[in-house]
Amino acid sequence: MAILKIARMGHPVLRRPAEPVADPTDPDIQRLIRDMAETMTDANGAGLAAPQVYRSARVILFHAPAMRAEGEEPAPTEVAPFTVLINPEITMDTQERVEDWEGCLSIPGLRGRVPRAPQIRYRGLGPDGAPIEREATGFHARVVQHEVDHLDGVLYPDRMKSLDSLIFETELRHVLAKQAPAHKESA
Ligand code: NI
Repeated sequence: MAILKIARMGHPVLRRPAEPVADPTDPDIQRLIRDMAETMTDANGAGLAAPQVYRSARVILFHAPAMRAEGEEPAPTEVAPFTVLINPEITMDTQERVEDWEGCLSIPGLRGRVPRAPQIRYRGLGPDGAPIEREATGFHARVVQHEVDHLDGVLYPDRMKSLDSLIFETELRHVLAKQAPAHKESA
């Protein structure tokens, strides 16, 4: 296991579409997954995509804990355990877009309000090669969209409707009086 260096915005690897994984059980991919898990935990991230650790592979990791969900009784679709997803595909279930704060381990120190579909379905392969298919809402849907964007060379500021809300996280207190609390983790 190893904690990997995280690529920051400006490095070309973050702008290149990542390559599909031919065999999730390949020892090289298994090692990548273990190292990404350790890196994400060390960075206190909500998600991580392989291009963020300089690897052009369609591999993402994320989790959506219950504490991130809205209200006291989160819908099952809002919550996801620590998940490894290989060659993921997203289906948007709605034209609706909802703005909320996001951060990114590749854009440290900043936060921005990003419109995302509030309800999606996604599918892909687990680390054992078995198919995973889920519905996701709320933060769960948001983090998956953020990570899959990384596989297509898209960073969250590309999705923002206005850069007025692209701010340093140390200045969040100035806007929190008017808006819902921002999430602490980056992805
Ligand atoms: Ni990110």
